[in-house]
Amino acid sequence: MLTIRAYAKINLTLEVLGKRADGYHEVVTVMQTIDLCDELTLEPSADMSLRCSDPTLETEDNLVLRAADLLREHAGCDSGADIYLRKSIPVAAGLGGGSSDAAAALVGLRRLWGLEQAVSDLRPLAASLGSDVPFFLSGGTAIAEGRGDVITSLPALPRTHLVLLSPQVEIPNKTAAMYGRLTPELYTDGSRSARLRSGLESGASIDPDALFNVFESVAFGLHPAIEEGRRTMLDAGASWVRLSGSGPAMYAFTASAEEADAMARRLREAGHRAHAAATVVPSTSVAG
Ligand code: C5P
Repeated sequence: MLTIRAYAKINLTLEVLGKRADGYHEVVTVMQTIDLCDELTLEPSADMSLRCSDPTLETEDNLVLRAADLLREHAGCDSGADIYLRKSIPVAAGLGGGSSDAAAALVGLRRLWGLEQAVSDLRPLAASLGSDVPFFLSGGTAIAEGRGDVITSLPALPRTHLVLLSPQVEIPNKTAAMYGRLTPELYTDGSRSARLRSGLESGASIDPDALFNVFESVAFGLHPAIEEGRRTMLDAGASWVRLSGSGPAMYAFTASAEEADAMARRLREAGHRAHAAATVVPSTSVAG
């Protein structure tokens, strides 16, 4: 049996440069894994099966099963696995939960089945599962370009505590819908991400003014629950609030773990779905 953690991410920057000929958007984004995580437990089996703490996710098109199928096909193996997915990362929130689960399935099953493929061989498989999936093969702090699938690792951000709020808003086909709402005036040139990158490379501490997310222009006005979540975080003591990915989850840094815990508790008491978390470099994610 093997247990593997699938960490969530936040986007420290997220810029859209323009629309591509393939229908995707060209992005530059600095991403960071955080210690809020799902957990996959993998057991060898003759067949493939997926059970999940959230039974609504036990579907054939779950990215975990699609990752398993793709890996079997790529490696030419007919091994199976019984997979149990314990979800903690809010679904379709902009925290990369489904993408991280898929990357964890690729890495974990490669190990469970004793495959010879290097983790770097998994990149094209990861990219075919979703634009965010390649980032989660290594996690940590990284800049992603192209449609989000071209990854360059960056020096790890010093451990930073944060509070997350995930409004319970259902936006059908959320990622595509949010990209679809972007207008060309919102496109930027990647310089915000380049500045943050050089700051990280020179070891400077992060200036919150360097953080940026293009989707805020559309998300914060989209649904009252998103704006209400943002205001509640500011009222609870956050001095700024950033959206993660295409939302609707948002985050703010705190000075300590205690402050993150206290703020998350206050937000939960006010009826919001909130978590305290910290940045993480997932070098020890395979536990079994
Ligand atoms: O790659 P992924 O399957 O996560 O993307 C979901 C949808 O989000 C795409 O079908 C596309 O509409 C949109 N998208 C985009 N540009 C990106 C990533 C995603 O337009 N860089």
